[in-house]
Amino acid sequence: MARAMVLWLWTFIMLVAMVNGADQKDNIGVNWGNIASHPLPPSNVVGMLKDNGLNKVKLFDADSSTLNALAGTGIEVMVAIPNDMLSRMNKYKHAKEWVKKNVTKHLYDGGVNIRYVAVGNEPLLTSYNDSFKQTTFPALQNIMKALEESGHGDIKASVPLNADVYESSSTMPSSGDFRGDVKDLMLDIVGFLKEKGAPFIVNIYPFLSLYQNPNFPEDFAFFDGGAKTINDNSHTYSNVFDANFDTLVSALKKNGYGDLKIVVGEIGWPTDGHIKATTKLAKKFYDGLLKKLASNKGTPMRPGPMEAYLFGLLDENMKSIDPGDFERHWGIFRYDGQPKFPMDLNGKGNDKMPIGAKGVQYMESKWCVFNTDAKNQDKIVGSVEYACSRSDCTSLGYGSSCNDLDANGNISYAFNMYFQMNDQSVEACQFDGLATITSTNASQQGCLFPIEVVSAAIRISMVPTEAVLLVFTLMLFLLL
Ligand SMILES: *[C@@H]1O[C@H](CO)[C@@H](O)[C@H](O)[C@H]1NC(C)=O
Ligand SMILES: *[C@@H]1O[C@H](CO)[C@@H](O)[C@H](O)[C@H]1NC(C)=O
Ligand SMILES: *[C@@H]1O[C@H](CO)[C@@H](O)[C@H](O)[C@H]1NC(C)=O
Ligand SMILES: *[C@@H]1O[C@H](CO)[C@@H](O)[C@H](O)[C@H]1NC(C)=O
Repeated sequence: MARAMVLWLWTFIMLVAMVNGADQKDNIGVNWGNIASHPLPPSNVVGMLKDNGLNKVKLFDADSSTLNALAGTGIEVMVAIPNDMLSRMNKYKHAKEWVKKNVTKHLYDGGVNIRYVAVGNEPLLTSYNDSFKQTTFPALQNIMKALEESGHGDIKASVPLNADVYESSSTMPSSGDFRGDVKDLMLDIVGFLKEKGAPFIVNIYPFLSLYQNPNFPEDFAFFDGGAKTINDNSHTYSNVFDANFDTLVSALKKNGYGDLKIVVGEIGWPTDGHIKATTKLAKKFYDGLLKKLASNKGTPMRPGPMEAYLFGLLDENMKSIDPGDFERHWGIFRYDGQPKFPMDLNGKGNDKMPIGAKGVQYMESKWCVFNTDAKNQDKIVGSVEYACSRSDCTSLGYGSSCNDLDANGNISYAFNMYFQMNDQSVEACQFDGLATITSTNASQQGCLFPIEVVSAAIRISMVPTEAVLLVFTLMLFLLL
């Protein structure tokens, strides 16, 4: 009798859990970067996160307007200390102050659900030439200590690292170990993370494997099989993500930390700026990745659930393009919070568009284009160079979405990007008479001539002065 009751209750609980679980993405987070000329207002972005059931977010700073928008939502947040602040954090006094201003301040009742503090962002990247090698570990220790001393030791500090901190002497994941020049440092960091119960955070990019090596077997970058597998002792690898992840697992194991929790800090696929950066391939990548994450299968050496933060939420048109033009096109959503392709964050393979940001305010529908009647055509080259160097022409290159424009289209594209990124100011559409403003949509097949989102500066100046004066007078009246 009692047993039947328990069984019933159990079934009921499971059913409720399943119904609720349908929209719960407990192991998926998203990176929210803001290196854009016209970032969306944080409230629009937070609405978008909620509408899509995304309840973990990783930031690259601790901007208070972003955190204020996240307050009361329950969304789990990773705040961050940028690399250029690491040396400052080597003084405990400064670390303590940072934690007070950027963490503790937001932990009031109904405040922000801060779970992690990221200390630096890939500070040990080879291309940084050891710039942060001395300052990373002391900063990590100081921040964790400050968290503990303020009574928030449940919030864990860690260092998001690029997968280049480990390597494998053969192509076999089982021969993974930390990179020679940072090995001692890595052992300090890993030992500290273990002691504090903090996770190892690693960024893994199958796209870059393909981008950096023209001979890389394309299918191996995705999750659908088809590539030659790697057979490593008893384990078989059919994709580079698993192989890369298990190289880290081996490195940890080899050094006595085989059970350290690993979180994937960044993973994704860009949609423009390179012949292999297309929405079609991005969709293929995410379909496979999300299915994999939902299956809780993990990797051959680490079976089980895995936590991963997708990179990224939105396109960022001011990111450095040193790594490549694709850098500005990592968003699952466009710069304006509109979805690019169908994807199922629940990993069930339902082809549905994610829900776009609501209530986005755009600037006027006008474009700046090449005036083909202009006389001084000798100034074109210089003008286009000027416009592109101060805006974003990463969609024009070979294999990109606007590569099919004709010569005039190219010029218009450059002029328009400069005009939009300068808030459509009349002066930004001159180019010695080579440019003209039009209300005809200049977009062409597959190539968007974007209209920017109204910028924060303009939003503030749009509040009518009269209204401000009225409120002010009223307040004064009430005070007196
Ligand atoms: C931390 O907070 C201070 C004060 O609000 C702010 O100036 C600073 O930019 C914040 N740090 C980061 C990394 O966001
Ligand atoms: C690292 O060194 C290389 C070669 O000396 C140099 O080109 C590059 O600018 C340096 N990078 C940084 C971040 O200092
Ligand atoms: C347009 O610009 C792109 C990028 O600079 C270039 O590759 C392409 O050849 C140009 N097209 C024409 C028709 O000039
Ligand atoms: C311009 O046209 C493109 C392509 O048809 C479209 O996606 C975009 O929304 C249009 N822009 C405006 C402001 O109407």
